Amino acid sequence: MELVGSAQFGKREGECEPVRVAASAGPSSSKLEQEKLSGVVKGVHRKLRRKYREVGDFEKIWREHCEDEETLSEYALAMKNLADHHWARSCEGEGRIEWCRSVCQEYFQGGGLKRALEKDEKSARHSGSATVAAPHCQQDESHRMNHQSGKVRLLDVGSCFNPFLKFDEFVTVGIDIVPAVESVHKCDFLNLQLQPPLQLAPDDTNAFLLQLRSPIDALPAELFHVVVFSLLLSYFPSPYQRWICCKKAHELLALHGLLLVITPDSSHQNRHALMMRSWRVAVESLGFKRYRYVKFSHMHLMAFRKVSLKTTSDLVSRNYPEMLYIPQDFNNADEEDYSDVPVPVRSGFEDDQLARCFAELPDAPYDSDSGESQSSSAPFHELDDPVLLQS
Ligand SMILES: C[S@@+](CC[C@H](N)C(=O)[O-])C[C@H]1O[C@@H](n2cnc3c(N)ncnc32)[C@H](O)[C@@H]1O
Repeated sequence: MELVGSAQFGKREGECEPVRVAASAGPSSSKLEQEKLSGVVKGVHRKLRRKYREVGDFEKIWREHCEDEETLSEYALAMKNLADHHWARSCEGEGRIEWCRSVCQEYFQGGGLKRALEKDEKSARHSGSATVAAPHCQQDESHRMNHQSGKVRLLDVGSCFNPFLKFDEFVTVGIDIVPAVESVHKCDFLNLQLQPPLQLAPDDTNAFLLQLRSPIDALPAELFHVVVFSLLLSYFPSPYQRWICCKKAHELLALHGLLLVITPDSSHQNRHALMMRSWRVAVESLGFKRYRYVKFSHMHLMAFRKVSLKTTSDLVSRNYPEMLYIPQDFNNADEEDYSDVPVPVRSGFEDDQLARCFAELPDAPYDSDSGESQSSSAPFHELDDPVLLQS
């Protein structure tokens, strides 16, 4: 990750001056620099939300946003600088990537997938479900996912600076509306077209991924073992856009693949537990099942398994997209009131409580017809902001 400013790309037409970090910066100037960079990032998020509130038409706003090359380049450079110079290895900036990696290792190489399939089978037997695959089929599936290829095919959406590229166990495809490094492909995931699945041997599929070039407008369905949304969904001003992304992830994943969702939240304890439940129900309705959940002090990290090729979700009669809300969707004037005061670190007990809250939801798909609407009881008073400043 050598790129700082425009060093690697040269300066494109309409590109802003890079935000540079002084090599000899002391602690306070480094902090100022960090604030400046995170101000750039937060400013873009705020502007998008403000426009969405004013105009309402997210497709129009999104089109205009993607055409604003100057703002996008400034954003990409700020993110890259934050990652390269301010998020130390030990802190969550790097920790979220390590978390994704360790979940994948445990799932694909450490027997996690096999255990999950056995558990599914057991609960299906208990509930008398006829739809579960026979045990030998489940085992075959697990074996196929584990051994058909030495490498795990990973799509990192909103990759920015391609943090997964350095890991050998992945064939990584990083995509972004504005790549901060050359190895990331330009692609608007919201408008990505889906093609029929490839019918290729694993090695040929990997070769197909390695020859992809920018811009990417279409990809075959069921291509990846892992799709990562790291700090992606909160970028969008509309819950519907978050929903489209989750739906696309489902289509792009092979059966039993993993969707990893990381979303910022600096609040303590289980303040946003309702929101996370709501997310879980919405995502599961697409044909996923929760796999892992953890709360770091600045973010929620969730892993979902793709458990069915079909989605159970019915957009017309249910309000799943709305369930992918974030506190900022409801803030108006207060939105600018960002606080970077460090939050108290939660105890292990509090972490457990929150994780349980996420895990204890019923497995049946959420049904708004039953009157269990979560979105209507969304905590509108929440004012917390995603944290981009991690001192
Ligand atoms: C907050 S950054 C997160 C970067 C990185 N994933 C991380 O965890 O540090 C969000 C990224 O998502 C990208 N992005 C936003 N909308 C996108 C879309 N529709 N398609 C692809 N990338 C998108 C932005 O350009 C930005 O680089």
